[in-house]
Amino acid sequence: MKNIADHLFDILENSAKAGASEVQVKISFNKKKFFCQIIDSGPGIEIADVIDPFVTTRKTRRVGLGLPLLKKTAEDTLGYLKIIRLNKKGGTSLEFLINMFHIDAKPFGDLARVFMDVLIAWPQMNLKLIIPNNSIDNVILDSEKIKEELNLEAIYSSQIQNFIYETVKKELIEKGIDDHFSIEPKRKNS
Ligand SMILES: Nc1ncnc2c1ncn2[C@@H]1O[C@H](COP(=O)(O)OP(=O)(O)OP(=O)(O)O)[C@@H](O)[C@H]1O
Ligand SMILES: [Mg+2]
Repeated sequence: MKNIADHLFDILENSAKAGASEVQVKISFNKKKFFCQIIDSGPGIEIADVIDPFVTTRKTRRVGLGLPLLKKTAEDTLGYLKIIRLNKKGGTSLEFLINMFHIDAKPFGDLARVFMDVLIAWPQMNLKLIIPNNSIDNVILDSEKIKEELNLEAIYSSQIQNFIYETVKKELIEKGIDDHFSIEPKRKNS
């Protein structure tokens, strides 16, 4: 996985494949620490198993690599990955922190594109994106609302996809979350 967007897609794919009907993603970027929490309403996760790369419900190959790789990506920057089973009935909360100032931090990649791709790939899964601002939860994207106000097919209109994509991207850039983020000092043109 070459960037954080790839990891985010994997987590959301895991939620979708586990049959979650609701997924909430919360993102923040303060003091160059990227924090992301994903809560889903799926059946819940067997915590003891998931960091073991040999545990997978995949039928095509016998190893699941998404979560072990995310753990490594986070820990390589002295960050962390934490997975919690929400209750006996199920539900998963997964959070990770990546120190973007660390030399080994991967670039963000196109996070807005991931939200669009997930919306299109699993339109039945309600996806909410929250970016807190001064401790107020700002809802940037709410696919349930979009489906209520438009119809499900509207998601397949490229005009609407572009609008959603650009809106999410703008909000992320405002928080400094974009691929131009770099820890290296800008080179002077010589
Ligand atoms: N949100 C979730 N709810 C329920 N089970 C989950 C969830 N996320 C992961 N799992 C379980 O953990 C296993 C490991 O996930 P992981 O992403 O590491 O690998 P994978 O999805 O099986 O394969 P890969 O990511 O390499 O395509 C999954 O196969 C699934 O059984
Ligand atoms: Mg996976």
